[in-house]
Amino acid sequence: MSNTVIWTEKYRPKDFADVRGQDAIVSKVKAFVDQKNLPHLLFAGPAGVGKSSLALVVAKQMFKEEWRENFLELNASDERGIDVVRVKVKDFARTKSIGDVPFKIVFLDECDALTKEAQQALRRTMENYTGTCRFILAANYSSKILDPIQSRCAVFRFKPLPKQDVFSIIDKVAEEESIKLDDAAKEALYVVSEGDCRRVENILQSCAAVDKNITEELVFSLASVAQPKEIKGILETSIKGDFLSARRTLLNVMLRYGLSGLDLIKQIQKEVWNLDLDNRQKVSLIDKCGEIEFRMVEGAD
Ligand SMILES: Nc1ncnc2c1ncn2[C@@H]1O[C@H](COP(=O)(O)OP(=O)(O)OP(=O)(O)O)[C@@H](O)[C@H]1O
Ligand SMILES: [Mg+2]
Repeated sequence: MSNTVIWTEKYRPKDFADVRGQDAIVSKVKAFVDQKNLPHLLFAGPAGVGKSSLALVVAKQMFKEEWRENFLELNASDERGIDVVRVKVKDFARTKSIGDVPFKIVFLDECDALTKEAQQALRRTMENYTGTCRFILAANYSSKILDPIQSRCAVFRFKPLPKQDVFSIIDKVAEEESIKLDDAAKEALYVVSEGDCRRVENILQSCAAVDKNITEELVFSLASVAQPKEIKGILETSIKGDFLSARRTLLNVMLRYGLSGLDLIKQIQKEVWNLDLDNRQKVSLIDKCGEIEFRMVEGAD
């Protein structure tokens, strides 16, 4: 049944053209594939913007039907240390690639989870098997990857998807799944996802399970995010001095959306910038938010 399929997998890009919002990266990587020649690659950037998807597209386009035999995917953070990675790579690299491409591809996800020592070992592994393998490394933060590894790779920095691309993905899914959303709902999805496409598709799927007519309210409630205008309202009420009423609404909002104190303080922090205050007052409020967030993280809430 179609409703048991996870949409992030169902709508995973299958070809270069399906990867949205990373045009400069896609065209360079496609050129490598067209020439059947690939340097080691490092894909850096936030969650859900197409790093793993592009690595898969590279393998599929490079090796066509034989991509499974020539592609090894490992997750640096669940392979319990670099030794497991090394052994698996060694096994994989021992045999020649199948087909007309003279190398295989190792995709190593979450490389920034590796310690310095593990990265040193990875660097040696990359050197040892350059004859038979190309590495595609993925990481959220390129700054956590050792320079000697970075210098061996072509580095690509992925960005959160811009609004128009998020909208076009929403439109495509909506059409396929016969769901309806108005502009406010799309805007809400973009706001809560912050350009993370996986989050867009996941929230959309939960919304669709509740109602095929998706509204702004539904998006916010399933994303466990209060509506920005509600937070702004609470802040304005308290600035007017009506703390009791502000507190009542605040509790109400927290219960309705199932927000933790920490979720809430982060949203308040964002909303402070939209208040009708001078900059000095805004900065002092942000400062307070920071202090409260620190106390919540360090202590109990
Ligand atoms: N640029 C994109 N174009 C189209 N769909 C995308 C894009 N980026 C992500 N998606 C959608 O989100 C899902 C998850 O993306 P992907 O696994 O590529 O993210 P990632 O960048 O590897 O994130 P992470 O850092 O969390 O591993 C994909 O299956 C796809 O449905
Ligand atoms: Mg990934």
